[in-house]
Amino acid sequence: MSYWIESEKLNKKFYSSDLFNFKKGQSLFKKECYHVINDVSFKLRSHCVTGFVGANGSGKTTLIKLILGFIKKTDGVLNYPLDQNQLLNFKTKIGFLPERPYYYDFLTPYELLKYFWNMQEPNLQEPNLQFNEIFYRVMKQVRLSEKYFHSKIKVFSKGMLQRVGMALALIHNPEYLILDEPMSGLDPEGRYLVKKIIQELKASGKSILFTSHLIEDVEELCEDILFIDNGKMIYSGPLETLKSSYHNESLMSVLNAISARHLGESQ
Ligand SMILES: Nc1ncnc2c1ncn2[C@@H]1O[C@H](COP(=O)(O)OP(=O)(O)O)[C@@H](O)[C@H]1O
Ligand SMILES: [Mg+2]
Repeated sequence: MSYWIESEKLNKKFYSSDLFNFKKGQSLFKKECYHVINDVSFKLRSHCVTGFVGANGSGKTTLIKLILGFIKKTDGVLNYPLDQNQLLNFKTKIGFLPERPYYYDFLTPYELLKYFWNMQEPNLQEPNLQFNEIFYRVMKQVRLSEKYFHSKIKVFSKGMLQRVGMALALIHNPEYLILDEPMSGLDPEGRYLVKKIIQELKASGKSILFTSHLIEDVEELCEDILFIDNGKMIYSGPLETLKSSYHNESLMSVLNAISARHLGESQ
């Protein structure tokens, strides 16, 4: 069994300096510390779909930013075993859908994707394939209808924007995908479509990590689960193992039971 990401006792602390707490005789800055990722250890299995769940503010997006190298860890270990533990190597193989994407909305999907495609190192582009062929392949994958290929993105609905975001994540045919809240704000049809895309990506051998508050969707799609609470990893491993230790109840009931236990312990 191989793993695409491994972490051991990973920590991330943010510090803020508050000038208004200045008192005579004290240091000018009072530093506040926010321990957002707290001794987090986990492994992500290759070619699996891992669902990343946890309440708002529990640290999901921060952990994703650490994985992608957007922010630096405070301490601990974060490894990319399939890429000789080189972040740069890992980054060339990853597709990312941010939680709050921003698109140049005066561009059309064709122009936007071409712009990002051209930013790639030519040696990383698929040999023998022209941009147009890849564009059509990706549009088919995300089911964006041809009549919108040359419409400005600013007129797009939330569902269509999400498809553009997925297309951007897929344009370089990445081996790994990290999708931060891909179903959020979508209607049932949009959710169904994103689920279908994730299932197809898994079938083609990709390794996927996605966050979601829609626990039924996570249960339907995932083999593995990461469950984070207040910066601490509560569970990481196979969904079935977690459920079997809770009499095979629904994932929603299991997560509620774990949260209730933790709440009880912290009171
Ligand atoms: N740059 C930052 N400085 C201070 N706190 C931060 C910073 N970024 C995130 N946080 C805090 O970290 C916590 C986790 O945030 P986030 O990772 O966005 O959670 P989630 O994605 O699970 O909703 C929140 O309390 C948030 O306010
Ligand atoms: Mg988030």
